[in-house]
Amino acid sequence: MLNKKRNLRLMAGIFIIGIVCMFEYAELSYEDVLRLVTFARKRPANDKSRSCTTCVTGWMNDMWFTKRFQPSVRPLLSKRNCMLSENTYKWWQRLQYVTRRANYTKVVKELFQIIPGKDHYLDGGSDRCRVCSVLGNSGNLLGSHYGDQIDSGDCVIRMNKAPTKGYERDVGTRTTHHIFYPESAVNVSNDTNVVLFPFKTLDLEWLMSALTNGTIKRTRENVPARINADKDKVMVLSPAFMRYVHTSWLQNKGVYPSTGFLALIFSLHICDKVNVYGFGANRNRVWHHYFEPPPKNFRLNVPHSVSNEYSVILELSKRKKIQLFTGI
Ligand SMILES: *[C@@H]1O[C@H](CO)[C@@H](O)[C@H](O)[C@H]1NC(C)=O
Ligand SMILES: *[C@@H]1O[C@H](CO)[C@@H](O)[C@H](O)[C@H]1NC(C)=O
Ligand SMILES: *[C@@H]1O[C@H](CO)[C@@H](O)[C@H](O)[C@H]1NC(C)=O
Ligand SMILES: *[C@@H]1O[C@H](CO)[C@@H](O)[C@H](O)[C@H]1NC(C)=O
Repeated sequence: MLNKKRNLRLMAGIFIIGIVCMFEYAELSYEDVLRLVTFARKRPANDKSRSCTTCVTGWMNDMWFTKRFQPSVRPLLSKRNCMLSENTYKWWQRLQYVTRRANYTKVVKELFQIIPGKDHYLDGGSDRCRVCSVLGNSGNLLGSHYGDQIDSGDCVIRMNKAPTKGYERDVGTRTTHHIFYPESAVNVSNDTNVVLFPFKTLDLEWLMSALTNGTIKRTRENVPARINADKDKVMVLSPAFMRYVHTSWLQNKGVYPSTGFLALIFSLHICDKVNVYGFGANRNRVWHHYFEPPPKNFRLNVPHSVSNEYSVILELSKRKKIQLFTGI
């Protein structure tokens, strides 16, 4: 009995000496050891020790960029900013026609009784270094093995029907923000923020319905009556932000910006370093979703080399405002 106790004490002693040696010889800091022990993956959003070579405050030395990027435009609708200017409202109303017309003022008032409507992401500044992984759904993700790198972002932003199951190695597993509109909605886990991109007032009514009684089942097409999401983590992109992206970033070309492009500019506004995955064609110059088979007629002609949006994305990359990962 006594021997056993002594042995235990001896082993404990050796264990402690072992830990001390780990500190001394491997030159691991206390934090490193803690990280090894807890496998901590999530970093605090404002971890100042990390280097952020491109932070918002360091971005403003580039004329091309400052002409387009307006940090004062708030990306998300809140109780305070939900009233739209006449011009913005008119622009937004024209995007998608539906016969059902609702009173926008009344609808947003009701909406913010269901979702929080706080002012999010007002924490920009030189000491914040939030890294975003933003994912388009291009087939160029297949075989990329970007999964771990994507998951290491503070924010991992996915859109529309993007699945992770079965594609983990290439697209990762975490989702902090899932962007969709009613016609592309999916269920999300309760630790994911939903960011609705509304293209009409009916989309806001659908959001309320989908989070409560499920009465709206159709917009322009059939839509899911309900979605599973934590109501406190539901946000809505501001129509004013959409119009700003259209005018300031795309010089009013096209009818309105694509979801992917809006998501990318959204990331520029809420993060300090933006890593962009899954935009553009695959290496055979075919445009398709990673979770769908490529179109039958291979070597689909890419619409006149590159689209306007993609050329802006390339310019952002060239000017080192984003890092573009184009797959293999
Ligand atoms: C829309 O709703 C608001 C608030 O509920 C109300 O004050 C306003 O008169 C309504 N507008 C129209 C055109 O019905
Ligand atoms: C979400 O899950 C519920 C069942 O929990 C289902 O009724 C609904 O159709 C799902 N919605 C989507 C968008 O898949
Ligand atoms: C989130 O979902 C998990 C698993 O479905 C559940 O165990 C957990 O209690 C939920 N958390 C909240 C805050 O609802
Ligand atoms: C369903 O919820 C919406 C939004 O909260 C509300 O306007 C509507 O009256 C409700 N419909 C029914 C049938 O309860």
